[in-house]
This record gives sequence, C-alpha cells and structure tokens, in this order.
Amino acid sequence: MKKKKSKKILIIHGPNLHLLGKRERNIYGKYSLKEINSGLLKIAKADNIELEIIQSNSEGEIVEKITKTAYSFLIINPAAYTHTSVAIRDAILGIKKPTIEVHLSNIHGREDFRKKSLISDVVMGVVAGFGKISYSLALQAAISFLKNKPKR
Ligand code: DQA
Repeated sequence: MKKKKSKKILIIHGPNLHLLGKRERNIYGKYSLKEINSGLLKIAKADNIELEIIQSNSEGEIVEKITKTAYSFLIINPAAYTHTSVAIRDAILGIKKPTIEVHLSNIHGREDFRKKSLISDVVMGVVAGFGKISYSLALQAAISFLKNKPKR
C-alpha cells in the first residue's frame, strides 16, 4: 500500500525570538527557542507531520518565506511585526493558507501599542498568553485541522 504523503506545517518565529530564554524572562519565559522547537518537532513526528521552522529578524525575509514556500498550514509568531506589518498581513492574505497567530504573552494585557494586531483578523485563530504552550496548542490545532480536512 502507498504510504500517505505527510503534510507540511511552516512555523515562523519573528524578530528577537532567537533571544528567548535570555530576553525579558518574566514575560517570555525561561525556555530557549531551541527547546521550544524540539518540543514542537516531537509533537509533529508523532503525528507524521512535516515541520519546517524558521526564525527571522527581517520583515522581507518573512514575507518571502510565507509566499514562496510550499506548505499546508502556517503558524506564525510575528513578534513586534504583529503591531506594524502591513506587508506580513498582505502576504498572509495573498497565500490564502490556513494560519494561526501565536504569542507567548497575552498581548491584550500589556502596553496599549501591543493590543493592536494587524494579523489577527486575517487568520483562522490566535493563541496568546500561555508561554511556550501557546505554540503546542497552535500546533495541535493545526494538526487536527489538517487531519480532519475533507478531501477534494
Ligand atoms: C510577542 C509579543 C509582541 O508584542 C513582542 O513584540 C514580541 C513577542 C509574544 O510572543 O508574546 O516580540 O509576539
């Protein structure tokens, strides 16, 4: 019998998330990005889902990745670009792939400038405020969506 092709989920970590574990630990937690990513890779492997994970500090690079990579589902923490980037919003609108926005912190409980997301109204859902668990919740939701998606 032919083995079913695994579906690919793209995870993008935006600017300054390479500093996780060192950066404002009281807000973003003690875990490094490497530790977070290895937990996500384990979840995906158990479900036969391919994951590509990147971190970028550059808005242009994030737009290129969103629009030029082949994948079935996007999970993105746009970090500071959440609050400023029309370019990332337009890229998400342009590719029309199911997308979840993730934040470690609850952006609605912080400074006023963080309460506005330019991304939230163009994605399927948002997970925010659970630290590294925000990513695993988003990944579980994405996997469940891909597994239950009706075939065309
Ligand atoms: C963040 C929240 C943003 O406001 C901030 O600029 C970040 C991280 C979060 O994951 O909580 O860099 O996206």
